[in-house]
Amino acid sequence: MLNWEKFPRPILALAPMAGYTDSAFRQLIRSFSKNVILWSEFVSADALKFDSQRSKQMLSFAKKEQPFVAQIFGKRPESFIEAAKFVESIGAVGVDLNFGCPAKKVVNSDHGSALLKNPKLASEIISAVARSVKIPTSVKMRLGISDDSGLESFAKMVEASGAQLLTIHGRTAKQMYRGEADFAPIYRVKKILKIPVLGNGDIDSADKFFAQLGNLDGLMIGRAAVTNPWIFREIENRLAGKTSRTPKTLAAKIPTILRHARLMIQEKGEKRGMLEMRKFSANYVRGEPGAKILRAKLVRVEKLSELEKILTKR
Ligand SMILES: Cc1cc2nc3c(=O)[nH]c(=O)nc-3n(C[C@H](O)[C@H](O)[C@H](O)COP(=O)(O)O)c2cc1C
Repeated sequence: MLNWEKFPRPILALAPMAGYTDSAFRQLIRSFSKNVILWSEFVSADALKFDSQRSKQMLSFAKKEQPFVAQIFGKRPESFIEAAKFVESIGAVGVDLNFGCPAKKVVNSDHGSALLKNPKLASEIISAVARSVKIPTSVKMRLGISDDSGLESFAKMVEASGAQLLTIHGRTAKQMYRGEADFAPIYRVKKILKIPVLGNGDIDSADKFFAQLGNLDGLMIGRAAVTNPWIFREIENRLAGKTSRTPKTLAAKIPTILRHARLMIQEKGEKRGMLEMRKFSANYVRGEPGAKILRAKLVRVEKLSELEKILTKR
């Protein structure tokens, strides 16, 4: 059973990202780092409660992905309970509650970061989940809706309601992804909580990881891992006093891109796998000479053989 208190520090985590952190991507990340904790994409608690096969499928994972944490979102405690029980039944080491998503569609239906406005309901959800499953319950949130004035009291409520870990993305919901993530309020929260606290936002290198860690128990990395899936290995190597061999040129990245594509095909079949691979391929070539022309080709790829050809016969 995962115990967040005892998990080796600093905790490294792959951030949940809808449309990105699927099983194929998580397996790729795992191949570079044995310690990183892998978060799922967020999955609707209501859909899980109503037995949606598609939502259940979104939480399927390979054994080697462990430790694997599943994230759920919703607004109804009874759905969260059923969803958390499902998460526990499939063997995830933790269940994470999404109180941070700022997307209009999610917030307008009172899900995600809308719960930051409703601490009473948020508390009810956390305690209902924590009582219903043995695996640890955690929460991921933003600094607040439009400022961080309610952050400390919300964080204390999260702890008092039974969550065993709190991750904070250093932006408000209003900010969406604008501006820079602010870690100062996260460091302040760490000082007043007993449960472990992870920081999140804009960590895009090993240097930045160590610069931002501060008093926190660990950090969660999202977007940077999509362009640089080696980032967790860089951090682990730095911790072990070793240097990393992160590929710097496109030629050196090709074997990883193709391995990623094969994992996509393994998990989703060639048609859907290659369709979903397009956005990853476009990300991998960011900053490369001729990236614009290359991207235009990559976003049309339908077959693995085409991807191979575009990457290798340039
Ligand atoms: C495409 C995309 C999808 C995301 N999906 C989720 C999600 O499902 N659940 C969640 O809690 N956060 C989600 N996030 C937010 C990230 O987990 C993370 O908090 C944010 O990207 C900041 O971290 P970063 O700068 O390391 O990317 C998503 C972010 C992006 C860019």
